[in-house]
Amino acid sequence: MMSAVPASEAPLGTLAAPEPEVRPDLWPSTTGRGADGALQIGGRSVGEILADAPTPVFVLDEADLRGRAATWAAAMAEEFWPGYGMNGGEAYYAGKAFLTTRVARTVLSEGLGIDTASAGELAVGVAALAEVDGEAATAHATRLGLHGNGKTCAEIRTALAHRVGHLVLDSAEEIDLAAAAVRELRESGHYAPDETGSVMLRLTTGIHAGGHEFISTAHEDQKFGISVATGAALDAARAVVTAPELTLHGLHSHIGSQIFDLAGFREAVGVVLRLRHQIAEATGVLCQEVDLGGGYGIAYTGADPVAPSPAEVARALAEAVRSLCAELGDAVPHVSVEPGRSIAGPSMVTLYTVTGLKRVELGEGAARLYVSVDGGMSDNIRPALYDAAYTALVANRRPDPEAGLVRARVVGKHCESGDVVVRDVDLPADLAVGDVLAVPATGAYGRSMASNYNLFTRPGVAWVEAGRQGWVLRPETIADLLALEGD
Ligand code: LLP
Repeated sequence: MMSAVPASEAPLGTLAAPEPEVRPDLWPSTTGRGADGALQIGGRSVGEILADAPTPVFVLDEADLRGRAATWAAAMAEEFWPGYGMNGGEAYYAGKAFLTTRVARTVLSEGLGIDTASAGELAVGVAALAEVDGEAATAHATRLGLHGNGKTCAEIRTALAHRVGHLVLDSAEEIDLAAAAVRELRESGHYAPDETGSVMLRLTTGIHAGGHEFISTAHEDQKFGISVATGAALDAARAVVTAPELTLHGLHSHIGSQIFDLAGFREAVGVVLRLRHQIAEATGVLCQEVDLGGGYGIAYTGADPVAPSPAEVARALAEAVRSLCAELGDAVPHVSVEPGRSIAGPSMVTLYTVTGLKRVELGEGAARLYVSVDGGMSDNIRPALYDAAYTALVANRRPDPEAGLVRARVVGKHCESGDVVVRDVDLPADLAVGDVLAVPATGAYGRSMASNYNLFTRPGVAWVEAGRQGWVLRPETIADLLALEGD
């Protein structure tokens, strides 16, 4: 039995993954241990899940996903209720976290819109909208949005052709592209001769929040948005208002990701609403809508705090909007948010099979157990890219308390030493090859950022609910990879 740990690190036991009953926020809501001690999700034990799905596999708790979507929709509707003097609120699911037609249908059915960031995501959103609201809805797709710096003409034209509710322009060049696309749509008869394209502007508010630099997107020195501080945003608003092809529907701000402290959002509300006021003074147009973006944090390990609930977030935003509008003497805008991670993240876990164990002596009696699993950076790039912390729990059996714990590092099977799944975790000292590990909170930016590095096939995403199971995405096969090859 190995119990020694590196002296500089946290005491053994403090890095063990919390069981679902201890930190339910880390796990899909239906997760628990069954009578046999194995983890179960959606009414299926890990053994049952893996009888129909090879590891590594993402397991999506459908009821949990639906619940999170519904909770966001209700929180925004409640806190921005016109009866409270507000002007309505809604949430658009940020599809970049994880999007398939099934996921899009689920969130649309629970009352969310969908924010997309590419032609591919937009196409999935349109397909799902047709299924949920009927084909006709895709011609007035107010429940969809399109974002991104460097959008192509084709992407902007497609978004305008569907009349998406949130076409968020990122630069002066995109304003010109949108105006040109509207002219084309008028000429082709798709738009009426006097119809305008409804657009929003992505602001760089100068507010920087969130964990890692690569996922913090509103400070000045970065690629996204139009600067408020330099006056570029006011100029852009003038350009939209004076363009005969366009209508300035609203302003958009996204300040970063994995944010727990709501102060940054309150500050962003101030910057956005002050600019809205200035634009109204300069142009006579008071934007109807303000989109405050996503970025609401989630817990990945037992060391993370419990994140604010959607109701708490919505209340904080509503209070900030209400008091700023009162101060400025402006009518309250319609308010939207774009949570991605907080909807998809905790609704999935990844199951891996342990394929190898290697003990490394670190000196002074300390040791680390390297636990190899059958996946790695190709199914979760976040540890390598952002130094993101995860945790892992033995899922195929109840850990034996007598066995003790060992300080472990769960690693993937790619040819890179940075291929880490969980940097530091305490696992049962009797861990064996063939055991199954569950890594929670992998639903956002896991499968969606998966790659084929080393020609790994990307894992499937299995849905589970009430004892049933199916594929959201089937596992990729080597034949799929070969099918892409040219001559
Ligand atoms: N809206 C906009 C305009 C965004 O850029 C993003 C994320 C979101 C909404 C959703 O943010 P969320 O609520 O999911 O934090 N790949 C990184 C995250 C990049 C997020 C970029 N934008 C990660 O794995 O952490």
